[in-house]
Amino acid sequence: MTDRAGAPQAGGLRATARRLVAGGRGILAADESVATMSKRLDDAGVPASAQRRRTYRELLVTADGLADGVNGVILCEETLRQRFADGRTFPEGIAGLGMLPGIKVDTGTAPLAGAPGETVTTGLDGLPERAAEFAALGARFAKWRAVFRITGDLPSNWAIRANAHALARYAADCLQAGLVPIVEPEVLAAGDHPLDRTATVTARVLATVTAALADAGIDPAATVLKPNMVTAGADAVPADPASVGRATLDVLRATVPDDLAGVAFLSGGWAPATAAANLAAIRELPAPWPVTFSFGRALVSPALHAWRGDPDAVPAAQEALLAEVRRNTAPAPVPA
Ligand code: 13P
Repeated sequence: MTDRAGAPQAGGLRATARRLVAGGRGILAADESVATMSKRLDDAGVPASAQRRRTYRELLVTADGLADGVNGVILCEETLRQRFADGRTFPEGIAGLGMLPGIKVDTGTAPLAGAPGETVTTGLDGLPERAAEFAALGARFAKWRAVFRITGDLPSNWAIRANAHALARYAADCLQAGLVPIVEPEVLAAGDHPLDRTATVTARVLATVTAALADAGIDPAATVLKPNMVTAGADAVPADPASVGRATLDVLRATVPDDLAGVAFLSGGWAPATAAANLAAIRELPAPWPVTFSFGRALVSPALHAWRGDPDAVPAAQEALLAEVRRNTAPAPVPA
């Protein structure tokens, strides 16, 4: 049964959201924009083209056994419309491999008037129609990323409120189209601020996002939150994983609803080992929601560098991805 927007009923959306974070498995963020992916390929010595971006993404998602640690794969629009070498579309191929295909629906960031040095995420115009089309192409969930920079007195309340409002509108449009929203408010790690400052800013951001989602009537049980971990700034003395784990859980428990479908952390540019250690520390603490990963760079960087565009290196690249996925997949709980 579907409602008037052609969306699966709420129960279906909740089931999809639960499936995205189930079993200690996570989400692979392979949704870099065309510009970002092209730069990463060029930097790895692979001249960027639509065909090479396609080949690279197929290499990632067809790594044998990826579904043992990955429930869903986030794609960008270019990839959503591309095909596996065997002719299946990416959404068909990913679903056939036992994972949920998803789509990044924001269109990047733009300067926010009234907030010098800050941005608002764009992409709301036409989103109801785009989301419906993405659902028809096979997407089951959709991601939107807001970014906040910590400097002396930033982020401003205005930037936080503008981005929270946009996140709520995007989430409403996605649910109406039958897509589970992955709500990503990212407080960037750039800077030399201590962990306490990240905690304060992340709490302000998450409390504001929670209020905006509630105003829009977003069902937490059909929503996955994708936040940053609460770390010290990238240029500060690093905090140990246990401190990151405690601070992250304290902030989240104080600001987000207990009935969220799940919390899937971004890796934020941290080295794979650092992101994995911090995630493991967070998972050691009791939480009301499933906790997992929705990493981009921390999963794929080693694979890209192993591949470098060489067809003979595909098995090594896939094994590099699988090793990172295994490192972040929580062991299945022992049945009582
Ligand atoms: P990172 O894990 O590389 O931060 O990327 C996650 C993501 O999806 C950013 O939007």
